[in-house]
Amino acid sequence: MPDFDLDSHFFNPDRSNLEAIRKLGYAFVDAIVDSVLDTQNQPFVKDNSTFNINIPKQGNDLWELLEEVRSQILPRTVNFQNPRYMGHMDSVPAAITIWADALVSAINNNMLSYELAPVFTQMEAQLMQWFGNLFGMGTDCFGTLTAGGSLANISALLLARNWKQPQSKTFGNSNKLVAFVSDAAHTSFEKAMNVIGVGKENLVRVPTNQRGEIILDELESAIQKTIREGKQPFFVAAIAGTTVTGAVDRIQSVGEIAKRYECWFHIDAAYGGAGIFTPKLQPLFQGCELADSLTFNPQKWLWVARTCAMLLVKDKQHLVDGFDGELPYMDDQALNFGNLNLQGTRRTDSLKLWMALKAMGTSGCRYLVERSLDLSNNLQQWVETSTELELVCEPTLNIICLKSSNPKISNATLRQQWIDEGKLWLSLPLWKGDRILKAVVLHPYAG
Ligand SMILES: Cc1ncc(COP(=O)(O)O)c(C=O)c1O
Repeated sequence: MPDFDLDSHFFNPDRSNLEAIRKLGYAFVDAIVDSVLDTQNQPFVKDNSTFNINIPKQGNDLWELLEEVRSQILPRTVNFQNPRYMGHMDSVPAAITIWADALVSAINNNMLSYELAPVFTQMEAQLMQWFGNLFGMGTDCFGTLTAGGSLANISALLLARNWKQPQSKTFGNSNKLVAFVSDAAHTSFEKAMNVIGVGKENLVRVPTNQRGEIILDELESAIQKTIREGKQPFFVAAIAGTTVTGAVDRIQSVGEIAKRYECWFHIDAAYGGAGIFTPKLQPLFQGCELADSLTFNPQKWLWVARTCAMLLVKDKQHLVDGFDGELPYMDDQALNFGNLNLQGTRRTDSLKLWMALKAMGTSGCRYLVERSLDLSNNLQQWVETSTELELVCEPTLNIICLKSSNPKISNATLRQQWIDEGKLWLSLPLWKGDRILKAVVLHPYAG
């Protein structure tokens, strides 16, 4: 490959290309600031046309490639910087976490083992204990970062299966196990039942009220029915911030039911977990001390650039026993997260999370969470005073579900009209059989 220019791609230890790499980096910073962040007045998506990857034989010039990204890729992205985007649980990342993410890539340490990421192993371990303490999960709490809430929920179900039937770790067969979540819980629970080999059929979806909170009597009856059928309940989850309405189950009561029937108690706070930072929402988290595990995604309501999610456990030993990993090619006396996680090689996302927490402080987290509650309250008032709209249910967090009250205009039509006018980008989730409109008020300048 005589015409391959090594210095274009890697930093040369003789430092000859140091300034060239720096200059290209600055151009990326300019692209991020000017063409990604400074787009608040631009459309939600500028260009919906199909994109073609077009891989060349001869590598492109890096400056031309950056220009192609600017002209061909960025216009096709969804513009979360537009404060009128409120569709899903997608936040604009806090600026420090964008730069931290680049740093994570540059350092490229590996969370597989202590020897490949010593400082980040310490950082992640301490952060997991810090969050566990924040949720009141007891002195032996621990956890691991994961690539998203789905993976955290899948991991929780795996730990629960291995705790209830340790033999299934070795022989694979899990016998007659049944798990319980509400009908408003995220679809990752079905995925999890598939992955752990217990099967989706053995996931009982318990009915919820209009707001999306699990009905406690229905949960208990469902568990009792399962026992009468000769099956073994092993897992019960409470949801803190359901995907559609942002409802929070009564954590304490669900936890008590789970314990009464000797089940693993999981809290899916992937979305709502950030509520722990404000005294306004802290009462909703009463009962977290009962939880064996808890999912929380700072990448959602804590404005940390993706990916950044976690699975916390009440007892570190559950992670050790549950994953039962081995890394014979590493120092096995050290704390190796590769043994405590479904992933092996993993990014050091702890740096983003730690920098976000250091930069904002807990009072900054509280301010931002409360600000989003206030902004969603404005939206709620707008809906309540409108003659054309009505609320679907009373909101709990910063998620407002609404619908058209004009029988001549469907929710789908209204949504498209608002998107075309650049007025609002809301999503159209299925809720209790109907398509409704959902606004997740995450943009700190939403409105
Ligand atoms: C309540 C809840 N749990 C879990 C998840 C899955 O998280 P992720 O998309 O990070 O896998 C979601 C996603 O929206 C969610 O709303």
